[in-house]
Amino acid sequence: MRTKTVLLCLIFWTIGRTAADHTSFTVSQAPEEAKVLRRESTTFYCIFPLSNDQTWVRVLWWKHAENEYLRTSTDKRKRFGMASRASGFLQLLGVTIKDAGIYRCSVIRQGEVKGNGTGSRLTVYG
Ligand SMILES: *[C@@H]1O[C@H](CO)[C@@H](O)[C@H](O)[C@H]1NC(C)=O
Repeated sequence: MRTKTVLLCLIFWTIGRTAADHTSFTVSQAPEEAKVLRRESTTFYCIFPLSNDQTWVRVLWWKHAENEYLRTSTDKRKRFGMASRASGFLQLLGVTIKDAGIYRCSVIRQGEVKGNGTGSRLTVYG
């Protein structure tokens, strides 16, 4: 009888946790805007809530009006990765006029997009 209760509790706890893992969360970005001289560099951050399970967390970035995530392999001037357990970064090296625009991050956990950043605007001048 007691074992059964404990087992049921364990099952419901597990189901609850799994369901919670599917909820999305708020992702913020900093700075909201960066004004950078041509050929200079800048870094944007993507900040998300820590969870019990930080395995398989990835942060990807995309630029507004472009339909795919940035890839470091095709553009060596753009680097991104994890900055801490609850943040990712995007570094833009030697910016060009063409780099101007809004950059957004996506936080991916276990292969699913759990949240999108609010966006960071890059203005390039000079
Ligand atoms: C994140 O943005 C993409 C592209 O706009 C959208 O398809 C997706 O539903 C968004 N996901 C969340 C969790 O907001």
